[in-house]
Amino acid sequence: MKVFKTVDSLRKWRSDLSPEKTLGLVPTMGALHEGHLSLIRRSRDENDFCLATIFVNPTQFDRKEDLESYPNSLETDLQMLKESGCHAVFVPTSEDIYENKIASDSFDFDGLDKVMEGRYRKGHFDGVATIVRKLFLLTQPDRAYFGEKDFQQLQIIKKMVRAEKLSVEIIPCEIFREEDGLAMSSRNRRLDVQQRKEASLLYKTLKQSRELLKKGVGFEIIHNMADEAFQSNPILKLEYFEIAEIDTLATALIYDPSKKYRAFIAAFAGPVRLIDNIALN
Ligand code: PAJ
Repeated sequence: MKVFKTVDSLRKWRSDLSPEKTLGLVPTMGALHEGHLSLIRRSRDENDFCLATIFVNPTQFDRKEDLESYPNSLETDLQMLKESGCHAVFVPTSEDIYENKIASDSFDFDGLDKVMEGRYRKGHFDGVATIVRKLFLLTQPDRAYFGEKDFQQLQIIKKMVRAEKLSVEIIPCEIFREEDGLAMSSRNRRLDVQQRKEASLLYKTLKQSRELLKKGVGFEIIHNMADEAFQSNPILKLEYFEIAEIDTLATALIYDPSKKYRAFIAAFAGPVRLIDNIALN
């Protein structure tokens, strides 16, 4: 596996690839786990070359504490990528990527950034779109792989690609979970034993909302169920529970069977912020 640390070395590798060969890109912020590796394996299987990127993008963090405490495990990450059959990895520095102007560009996401993660993390999606666009322009992938774990991010990237008329195909990948249902996340390693045990409540609540909807229960009662589940838990603090239509991400008030919905959840376990979501119908 090739490891590129500079924009120039990556550019050279990219321009030497034969135009008939396809390239799959998997952008990450490192601290890799099986969820990330499921994207790597899919990209490797569906393309001639798989390129991963590891870059903790400063412009997408709204809380300094979150950026500073973001786990770093580069040596293990490289080993995991190699064992998963990844062909190359790009590990740039902020200076090389942002060239003295560590700031986000601004985008019009047609309201997709105004709800949920966007409401609680100001500027987050401008930061995400800024780095993802830079990576797309630099690496010119045929396909790029993103997890449904960050479903709002996935929809925003699709919107950006359409608006900018980029030729990359965005491939959504299923959420990879621990045995108790907790969605895998780099943040899970910051949970203590008790927080880790309680953290499965996020997925349990999502699953229960899907069951209730199947039984014909209305959205308002499902919301109450979620609130109550967290009120009686002393370890976790619910930030939001939302049911939204998947294309607009607008809050759903009344069930329309011709539409597709997902339930979304964010909660704190101490200082660690966890998110998850599920398809409802
Ligand atoms: P990061 O959180 O490292 O995630 C990298 C990719 O892995 C994202 O597409 C994310 O949705 C996916 N992923 C994470 N956990 C997953 C799981 N349990 N199952 C399936 N996929 C999972 O998302 C980012 O980095 C950044 O915002 C990035 C897109 C790299 C831009 O900086």
